Amino acid sequence: MNIPQHTAIIMDGNGRWAKERGMVRVQGHNAGMKSLKEIVKASSTMGIKYLTVYAFSTENWKRPQDEVSGIFKLVVKYIKQEIKELDANNVRVNIIGDWHALPEDARASLQYALDTTKDNDGLVFNVALNYGGRAEILKSVKTILDKVASGEISQEDLTEDTISSYLYTAEMPDPDLIIRTGGEYRLSNFLTWQSAYSELYVTDVYWPDFTPAELEKAIEAYNGRERRFGGLK
Ligand code: FPP
Repeated sequence: MNIPQHTAIIMDGNGRWAKERGMVRVQGHNAGMKSLKEIVKASSTMGIKYLTVYAFSTENWKRPQDEVSGIFKLVVKYIKQEIKELDANNVRVNIIGDWHALPEDARASLQYALDTTKDNDGLVFNVALNYGGRAEILKSVKTILDKVASGEISQEDLTEDTISSYLYTAEMPDPDLIIRTGGEYRLSNFLTWQSAYSELYVTDVYWPDFTPAELEKAIEAYNGRERRFGGLK
């Protein structure tokens, strides 16, 4: 089987999963965190090189405050429970997004995860936190404008690669496969620049029910796709 080097996931459906069980939304996110643990392990075992997950978007601040703080508490809990094993499995944690706007305890915990795993060269586990694809492109453009103004880059030399090189994912390949759970057919401001040629896989399965077997199904579907990147077979 051809393993997508970079797999990205929109972990949707936690709220609906909880509602169907008469639980509150944060309980759905807690179940989602458990799913994430298994998917990170499976990704590492399967030989995926980059796994990027959408944990919190720039738009998610609009949710009720208890849900927002509940998600950040889960990030802290996840790191506390998993960091040893992530490190032992040679996983390198990386954050994409403007995570410095997160609450202090979440930031401290994330910084600890980054520091602990920085020398690992196995799976790169990208967690998107306060991430928005358009905001990321804007950030890159602003950096480039500064460099053009200071003469460090000339406008004639600007290429698509220049823009890529100032995104959070600089140095990483674009995602080969983007999975969305919860059945909706949209990208929701996730990896807007990087997804230009990604294969999309949508499943109705809610994120808390997304098991390693479901990941294998997604990869099987990916294996049946013919990627032409605009060319001919
Ligand atoms: C989308 O489901 C999910 C989120 C906005 C949060 C994802 C968070 C986690 C999986 C847990 C914590 C993360 C880490 C990194 C430990 P939704 O709430 O939009 O579901 P719905 O569409 O059914 O309402």
